[in-house]
Amino acid sequence: MPATAVIGGQWGDEGKGKIVDFMAQNADIVVRYAGGGNAGHSVENENGKFALRTIPCGMVNSHSRMNIVGRGTVPELGIVVGELQALEEKGIDITRLRIDAAAHLVMPWHSAKDRLEEESKRKGNNSIGTTGNGIGPCYADKIDRVGFRAGDLLDINTFYENFRQRFKQRVAYLKRNYRSHFKRCSCCDLCRDIISGSVAVCQLHENIAYLKRKFESLDNLICDTRPILWEALDKGQNILLEGAQGFMLDIDHGTYPYVTSSCTGVASAAQGSGVPVNEIKERIGVFKSYTSRVGEGDMPTQMAGYPERKIREIAHEYGTVTGRPRRLGWFDTVFVKEVVRANGLTGVAITRLDILDDFPLIGVGIDNGTGGRRIDWIPGWGPKESVGPCRTWDSLPEAAKDYCNRIACGVPIKYISVGPGREETIVVS
Ligand code: GTP
Ligand code: IMP
Ligand code: MG
Repeated sequence: MPATAVIGGQWGDEGKGKIVDFMAQNADIVVRYAGGGNAGHSVENENGKFALRTIPCGMVNSHSRMNIVGRGTVPELGIVVGELQALEEKGIDITRLRIDAAAHLVMPWHSAKDRLEEESKRKGNNSIGTTGNGIGPCYADKIDRVGFRAGDLLDINTFYENFRQRFKQRVAYLKRNYRSHFKRCSCCDLCRDIISGSVAVCQLHENIAYLKRKFESLDNLICDTRPILWEALDKGQNILLEGAQGFMLDIDHGTYPYVTSSCTGVASAAQGSGVPVNEIKERIGVFKSYTSRVGEGDMPTQMAGYPERKIREIAHEYGTVTGRPRRLGWFDTVFVKEVVRANGLTGVAITRLDILDDFPLIGVGIDNGTGGRRIDWIPGWGPKESVGPCRTWDSLPEAAKDYCNRIACGVPIKYISVGPGREETIVVS
């Protein structure tokens, strides 16, 4: 099994963290290929509970010998350092991390622009509801060919010189464009620094010093990671390409403009890592057994009232990064069929099936014939039966099997998750 891509099939937070952690038990290398600190992946395993944002979930799995932040991602150094410190505290060997030299770095002015942009539109419409992590502005600079890349840190003096110059330009731009919001804004260090007139390099210094200390030299952390992957493929080792966000948030395929600024699907797994497309033999879509969305934008199967309140309460459906309550909906087969087709999925992983234990009737969104959705109600297995204790397909209640087959949209079911722990996973053969 050379390379396997694991993508989110909805609007993110499908439980990719849990599935990647499970699959990483068989992976030599795990790679994040897109997105940055906007992602939040939660993992619970024998090493503890982890909330990862930029660093691949393979890091919390002793089997994976290397974890790569690929060239399609946009890491922010402060976030990476924070994650590494949290991992260190739990005794994880952090030197198994590599960051691709071509990955673009989120800079303080990117996050400031993101937040000021949201702030300035707060009372109007068209707010995207971003996570405020500077993802869009950073990718915009990348496409505009003016970004800072991780490899630039290897020539630190030139980097600081360019940083200072760009800082001045970007501050002038932000002041010009968001003047009235600046006065009230206390959203981030950059805004505070701008208001007080100082330059935001101190934090950057500290982060770089930490990385140098831990990796002895930045060359041990930042490099062209593609040869590592190519060599692993030549040796027949297993590579896991870990998606962030979900396909409905993809900049090309998602619900534009209410999307993130990266490509989130299988094609991006190749592009953002350097693993050739033809080596990605397995393409797994992770689908939560219902739907959630955080941020703005349409959600055709959105629930109202009791089911939403109930699921939010038992499943703690709040954004990992922002803490915002997620909107919840029934499973949307119309979108999912597109996700299956566009990504050539070879398998699906269904997560959080146990959360539906309490519902005697479960809604499934289907085409209403005019481009919208109609909710089809099908019998659940609860409250008499529960999927939580099940560890095999055969032991699942018949109604749960019917439900899984229905939402898998014709794609083989590979995994069913019935609880947060690694062992609470059914491998379907
Ligand atoms: P991704 O971004 O796709 O990785 O998902 P996420 O980690 O953002 O999802 P979320 O923030 O909703 O957190 C998932 C939480 O649910 C974590 O604590 C997981 O351990 C847990 N979890 C994962 N799968 C299941 C499951 O099947 N059942 C239950 N009850 N919990 C799960
Ligand atoms: P951005 O990626 O921060 O620019 O946010 C753009 C949109 O994508 C917003 O609606 C966010 O809520 C959403 N988004 C980005 N990352 C995630 C994620 O990891 N999970 C869920 N939604 C996300
Ligand atoms: Mg998440």
